[in-house]
Amino acid sequence: MSGSNGSPRDLKAGGSLRGRVRVPGDKSISHRALLFGAIAEGTTTIEGLLPAEDPISTAACLRSMGTTISPIQSGEIVTIEGVGLDGLQEPLEILDCGNSGTTMRLMLGLLAGRQGRHFVLTGDASLRRRPMNRVGQPLSLLGADVRGRDHGNLAPLSVQGQRLRGAVVGTPVASAQVKSAILLAALTAEGATSVIEPAPSRDHSERMLKAFGADLEVGGEMGRHIVVRPGATLKGQHVVVPGDISSAAFWLVAGALVPGANITVENVGLNPTRTGILEVLDLMGASVQVLNRRDVAGEPVGDLQVSHGPLKAFQFGEEIMPRLVDEVPILSVAACFCDGESRISGAAELRVKETDRLAVMARQLKAMGADIDEDPDGLTIRGGQSLKGAELDSETDHRVAMSLAVAGLMAEGDSRLSRSEAAAVSYPNFWDDLERLRC
Ligand code: S3P
Repeated sequence: MSGSNGSPRDLKAGGSLRGRVRVPGDKSISHRALLFGAIAEGTTTIEGLLPAEDPISTAACLRSMGTTISPIQSGEIVTIEGVGLDGLQEPLEILDCGNSGTTMRLMLGLLAGRQGRHFVLTGDASLRRRPMNRVGQPLSLLGADVRGRDHGNLAPLSVQGQRLRGAVVGTPVASAQVKSAILLAALTAEGATSVIEPAPSRDHSERMLKAFGADLEVGGEMGRHIVVRPGATLKGQHVVVPGDISSAAFWLVAGALVPGANITVENVGLNPTRTGILEVLDLMGASVQVLNRRDVAGEPVGDLQVSHGPLKAFQFGEEIMPRLVDEVPILSVAACFCDGESRISGAAELRVKETDRLAVMARQLKAMGADIDEDPDGLTIRGGQSLKGAELDSETDHRVAMSLAVAGLMAEGDSRLSRSEAAAVSYPNFWDDLERLRC
């Protein structure tokens, strides 16, 4: 079968997409459920946990510090026996965070206050290139000792657990990973900690920590100011993980682009800090309907129905970026098929994701003949011309792999995608779901 064992995957052009699809669990919520469950007292059960490489990395790190977590398998409830706030043991092994920035950054916050214990963290080649000072520096204001290559910026990193003290911390970027690391460290500090973000990032940590019983207050303009007071006991919970809107995004864009398409994506998380993709689809004039809106375990959820129609060029910038940061690759594909010039700006953060996503998307879409300029902080794309089938490469990035799959459907002529297996980092069944929806 093409695409297995690292061989390039054939991407057949043409045809349409119809039917219903359930995307796997939200990656951000899955990491948090595992981490908070581990430091809670009692049992946490997780329904709908994403059974993909990234959360599996988080679970493996937690297991090597003495937490019992049942096997992570699709459709199975995952059970965690929490060890309590101070129960994590010093691991005998290096903690391997794989490809997962969320694992490494949240782990730094979780471990910083484990007095007298020593931890070493590393990851794959991509993660070892990603900046970690953005977490280490704010944590040092609480007294954390995090060291690494390039003045503490690059993994492998070491953490020497310290007695932490609460502080007022302004984060340098609107990043939920940075914010969440500080919130986790604050749970074990002496005195209150305030975190102030330059713009609001996804708030899953705040919602879930409160549900676990943490003493946490959210205030300020659009929830940018969070105060944590230590001392509360976290109690094991039942967590229900909604489908990941960042995975749904591939079907939403495919449904809007592919002639004759009509797709319903079921059970998608609609937390307003994540729904920038819906705002941009609306700007494009795409037909997307939210059905069956409901609240599940503290997160808004709905089904999304999308169908094909004419699309216009769009522009968006810094303000919306935290609400759609992971959707820029697939939106760059969408722009190729919108009439007129689209512009994405304020997106410099994309350069420090799993790959430099601005450079990679510009390079791969150019190989298909797209009219695209790479700007320092974004992309300018003149759409409306057809793309041609080509030799493509995910460059090891899961979201690039899935974005190029959608581009391949829309091309004239078939493509081949190298390193398509990267999709498994966040969406293990992506290629099967694509086959099922095709008609
Ligand atoms: C994540 C936050 C985002 C996102 C990443 C997951 C999280 O990163 O890109 O895929 O779970 O907190 P930043 O908020 O650091 O940009």
